[in-house]
Amino acid sequence: MLTAFRKYLLVPRLIRLSSGAPKDPQTAWDQYWGKVRSTGADGDVLWDSGNSHEAESYLPKLALLDADLPLVDVGCGNGSFTRHFAPHFPHAVGVDYSANAVERARRESQECPTTSFAVADLTAPGAWRTVGTALEEAGFSGDANVFIRGVLHVLDRKGRAALAANLLPVVGRRGTVFLAETNFRGTPVDYVSHLGATRHSIPAPLEWAIRGLPMPGRFGAAQRRKAFPPSDWDLVEEGAANIETRPLSNPGRPDVIPGYFAILRPHQPN
Ligand SMILES: C[S@@+](CC[C@H](N)C(=O)[O-])C[C@H]1O[C@@H](n2cnc3c(N)ncnc32)[C@H](O)[C@@H]1O
Repeated sequence: MLTAFRKYLLVPRLIRLSSGAPKDPQTAWDQYWGKVRSTGADGDVLWDSGNSHEAESYLPKLALLDADLPLVDVGCGNGSFTRHFAPHFPHAVGVDYSANAVERARRESQECPTTSFAVADLTAPGAWRTVGTALEEAGFSGDANVFIRGVLHVLDRKGRAALAANLLPVVGRRGTVFLAETNFRGTPVDYVSHLGATRHSIPAPLEWAIRGLPMPGRFGAAQRRKAFPPSDWDLVEEGAANIETRPLSNPGRPDVIPGYFAILRPHQPN
């Protein structure tokens, strides 16, 4: 009881830290990526564990995607998942609305010839055309698979629906969407406490995210049903996932946020 109460003593600190974050999410994300000095297990980025464990755990599910189609990594950030999955598809295109993220992803992917990157706001009307152009520049036309990690839970309900609508023309008839999102049940205070924040100290990558970014929400089955309605999408599979962060509480081991995955295809009327 006392421990639960102590947790809430964090609230004034959280309010103070987050009060300087830009109100416009795209500006916030671009400034955040512009300030990142390093990524990976010792880096600044909370959700980049620096190892392939989480990505590998998705491979059995990604085997359900048509391996002859390219992969589009929506909201790719620094491109760590784009790089992990590129060898499993003919090509992987990472797309993000932060130009600083895309610049960093390109820099970190110089050794991966089957990756490319583009800047686009996937909630903007017609953004699917920018994705199509990026695929054409890489030598592909037609349907593509889509991978999304850690993006839908940072969007509001309208943004999620707009993003899902942009994905329909990207996947066409043959493509499949795989998404993995954090689905933490609890208040923002519970969330930051889960990641090691106390009244006395906050792990640096978490503090950085709190200072610069909008507070994330959660994305689970209920949110998926609204964003990807059954009139447009068939659910192939869904379940629990483990979203791994950069090591916070133990230098050698990523921390884990409870997550949700889903595999979706455009609705095919019987
Ligand atoms: C939590 S990060 C996840 C990055 C990457 N998917 C990963 O898991 O390493 C969320 C990313 O989504 C991007 N993003 C947020 N809203 C977006 C939008 N509307 N269109 C494109 N990218 C977006 C942000 O710029 C950020 O890079």
